[in-house]
Amino acid sequence: MNAAISSLVPERSVRPDPHRQPVAIAFDQVSKGFRSHGRVTQALENVSLEVRRGAFVSLVGPSGSGKTTLLNLAAGLLRADAGRLEYGGANLTGPNTQVGYLTQDDALLPWRSVLANVALPLEVRGVGRPERLAAARRIIARVGLKDFEKHFPAQLSGGMRKRVALARTLVYHPETLLLDEPFSALDAQTRLVIQKQLRELVGELGLTVLLVTHDLHEAIALSDTIVVFSRRPARILETFEVPQPAGRDILRPRAADEQIYLKIWDLLADDSDLSDA
Ligand SMILES: Nc1ncnc2c1ncn2[C@@H]1O[C@H](COP(=O)(O)OP(=O)(O)O)[C@@H](O)[C@H]1O
Ligand SMILES: [Mg+2]
Repeated sequence: MNAAISSLVPERSVRPDPHRQPVAIAFDQVSKGFRSHGRVTQALENVSLEVRRGAFVSLVGPSGSGKTTLLNLAAGLLRADAGRLEYGGANLTGPNTQVGYLTQDDALLPWRSVLANVALPLEVRGVGRPERLAAARRIIARVGLKDFEKHFPAQLSGGMRKRVALARTLVYHPETLLLDEPFSALDAQTRLVIQKQLRELVGELGLTVLLVTHDLHEAIALSDTIVVFSRRPARILETFEVPQPAGRDILRPRAADEQIYLKIWDLLADDSDLSDA
């Protein structure tokens, strides 16, 4: 095909429709409580949720509603009290080795260079030095930090540090990314840039993502599906599908996005004490 013709052919999406993919993570009637000082705090109650392979799913809801608990369950770091949790069609009974987990307070080691920080998970897994440095360099280039391998965390901007943390999570090629409010400390401009990069990276690597965020705009810009949690004990109030056509510029809000925003906002306001104030 010559250049003139090919430029007229619309770019075809290589991203498979996530709604037609097999289920990656399945929560079936999952409940989880925590006992401390003789009292039980019920974090999740009868939560059922399916995340399909290659889907980008966001969880929004009030603080303390069990969102981090749900990620910890998906990572296999906690066991459910009741219900069933499956990953890739099998019962999840221990740490989930298929997920990369960027926790809320994930920090880089300040005394290590970017390269050594990103290589760390492979070092822990006993991968040899040349191999782990090569893998770290590849993923560092992928997040756009090729010229910063030798820098130390203190020499980087907040957005760059987040990208290093993301690279460290991706260095062992997880199938699924669990992200707990990853961009909440960043300024608005930086957040937009890193959101766009994340969406591209997730598409390129074919990752499944479960993202916890307080930022409704972020959830709408990035996700195929948004799950709205109630106050504790968290139940799912409603699930929204967000159309994400190929080639969409996520930095440009659409009229339909505003509708979703208002619906979620109303749901959260109805569920909170705000409506009683
Ligand atoms: N390890 C724990 N021990 C006791 N309580 C916990 C523990 N983890 C979470 N909780 C409680 O469970 C509830 C849900 O917490 P969390 O999942 O962190 O909520 P979110 O991420 O939605 O803000 C909170 O009330 C929290 O205090
Ligand atoms: Mg949390």
